[in-house]
Amino acid sequence: RRLLGTAGAAGAAGLLVGGTAGAFGAEAVRKEPAPLAGVGSAAVPFHGEHQAGIVQPAQAHGHLAAFDLAPGADRRAAAALLRRWSATAAELMEGAAPRDDTSGVALDAGPCSLTVTFGFGRTFFDRTGLADRRPAALEPLPAFTADALDPRRSDGDLWVQIGADDALVAFHALRLLQKQAGDTARLRWQMNGFNRTPGAAAQPRTGRNLMGQIDGTNNPKPSDPDFAERIFVAGSGNDWMAGGSYAVVRRIRMLLDSWDHLSLERQERVIGRRKADGAPLSGGTETTPVDLNKVGPDGSLAIPGDAHVRVAAPASNRGAKMLRRAFSYHDGYREDGAPDAGLLFVAWQSDPMQGFVPVQRKLDRGDGLSRFLSHEASGLYAVPGGCAPGEYVGQRLLE
Ligand code: HEM
Repeated sequence: RRLLGTAGAAGAAGLLVGGTAGAFGAEAVRKEPAPLAGVGSAAVPFHGEHQAGIVQPAQAHGHLAAFDLAPGADRRAAAALLRRWSATAAELMEGAAPRDDTSGVALDAGPCSLTVTFGFGRTFFDRTGLADRRPAALEPLPAFTADALDPRRSDGDLWVQIGADDALVAFHALRLLQKQAGDTARLRWQMNGFNRTPGAAAQPRTGRNLMGQIDGTNNPKPSDPDFAERIFVAGSGNDWMAGGSYAVVRRIRMLLDSWDHLSLERQERVIGRRKADGAPLSGGTETTPVDLNKVGPDGSLAIPGDAHVRVAAPASNRGAKMLRRAFSYHDGYREDGAPDAGLLFVAWQSDPMQGFVPVQRKLDRGDGLSRFLSHEASGLYAVPGGCAPGEYVGQRLLE
């Protein structure tokens, strides 16, 4: 009731303003722009040791896209494209737009925490004559039994990750990059994702995924002593991957119709954490360390043997770690009536063989969650370190 009343009042106010404008002309009601609210004004620097879009919290709107170089586009063309893309990303992330941009899509918006991140797929190195500089870490990912991969929505020469707390700002960035790709590169695939909007929840905590779980709690933290080593590639300043990272991208559909049939208790046992607050089933609050050895009064493990957090934990995988930074997606309904929805899973690590690969191998052998998932697309990208003002991403490889 109160909600209806509020909406009605807002509607009436809107009408009043419109009416006033009609009577006195638009000039009479034009107001000074209000200062941007927190969401609009937040800006992430483009330049730095690492590219943006890795350690920052995942934004409310995301686009993942891969481009293929056009036939005949060589290393020099790729370098020119990365120069254009980097300059545009730097401007947009400040809340400015390139001078020749007449689109107006994001005109009144601030930077809205926009980040734009660029990566190179395995095939990029063949197309640009740089096969001898391709990192060993870009070896193709092994096949997993849960894979139902669509090659048209997988891989690609170049990868772009865009995130912003405003949908128009995110779209604008993608559209400009796509236009600037011009004759050099063509869009191969694009996926759109989302997360909770900042300020939407009374209790700001780790975000939830489309299964309703709090997701991201036990991610490595920048304050962990081994964080830099696990997430970013070490190396001297001349090494083009120094300060970079490897992104594993998986489009993971959630079999929500089957999942929703489980009782809350069973859902919690599949993950090993409580839904309401994300606390481990071994006790405590969301941030309490998981106790994998705890047994209940009946002698059974508090966190079941096949619980996702047990099977995925570093302790079960010889210390393998990755930083998960995902977007949810929902692309309507499939022919069978099930939602085409799930997670655009992006995992960051300094070496996929010490991060995603061993953990996914273990999960693939049958954790409780795998029965409710289908991996539908996959990509692995070398994401170079960040660049200094005047430079472009990937310059040390491409110049
Ligand atoms: C933890 C959900 C796929 C690796 C978690 C947690 C949830 C979750 C709810 C517990 C909270 C947290 O610590 O973040 C999901 C869903 C997935 C998915 C819904 C698919 C749609 C994956 C995949 C991997 C992975 C593909 C890696 C190959 C991990 C790791 C943890 C974790 C490493 C932390 C375990 C720990 O140390 O406690 N996941 N996950 N997850 N997940 Fe997933």
